[in-house]
Amino acid sequence: MEVIIRENADSCAEIAAKIVAKYLREKKSPVLGLATGSTPEKMYRKLISMNEKGEISFSHCTTFNLDEYVGLPPDHSQSYHRYMKQNLFDHIDIGMGSTHIPDGNAPDLRLECLNYEKAIKNEGGIDLQILGIGSNGHIGFNEPIGSLSSRTWIKILTQNTIKDNARFFDDDSQVPRHVITMGIGTILEAEHCLILACGKQKSMAVQAMIEGPITSQCPSSALQFHKRTTAVLDEDAACLLKLKSHYKWVEENHLDWQQYD
Ligand code: F6R
Repeated sequence: MEVIIRENADSCAEIAAKIVAKYLREKKSPVLGLATGSTPEKMYRKLISMNEKGEISFSHCTTFNLDEYVGLPPDHSQSYHRYMKQNLFDHIDIGMGSTHIPDGNAPDLRLECLNYEKAIKNEGGIDLQILGIGSNGHIGFNEPIGSLSSRTWIKILTQNTIKDNARFFDDDSQVPRHVITMGIGTILEAEHCLILACGKQKSMAVQAMIEGPITSQCPSSALQFHKRTTAVLDEDAACLLKLKSHYKWVEENHLDWQQYD
């Protein structure tokens, strides 16, 4: 795994936006996998600003979001449909027909999941998958002990995640119990995964993901199997990494074509 450590959340967002921009500039029809949550918000703001300045365009791009709550109306303040419009889609030159988010209100949720997988395949797969990490090591909404080869499906959130996400709702009881999420198997098929983590509250999960054993107890550790994953971390999220100086050494010795800055 490629590990990039930056001073703070702002400099993480900066380099993450540059990685996304590279795909938008270099690919004819880039397919981006998108995440929600608080971590990518700053990166989305930087991408919006680059789009406004004419430095990048999303007009040729297709997107697939990782996940959505089951049962929240799309215009609910905490639905990921609403999040994506507010944090990205309403501010960039993307055609809404090119964006995809699982429909948590589909009359047949299982069919929705199967169709979501088909839609990703029809676009030729995901070029760059953006990910955040839960404090329990989840990616998407793939919670501990779930299958490490799962596909897009309906999952039940752990009480830990419900507690973590309650900050966005009035209280725990408002957080939906069920979600649709791309599976770990779906995520591992992306060409490149870009996982972002900021803050001390993520440091244990980050250490387990990068340096721990590959185990369903930490679903993000499955990324150790992935052919190309870049982890962008701030100093706080990286504080428990045992090989921190090695990761910095590797980055300092990147060849020109490996540089993002
Ligand atoms: C969101 C998602 C989740 C979040 C994770 C971290 O689409 O898939 O895995 O990335 O829960 O959330 P934040 O960034 O809010 O700490």
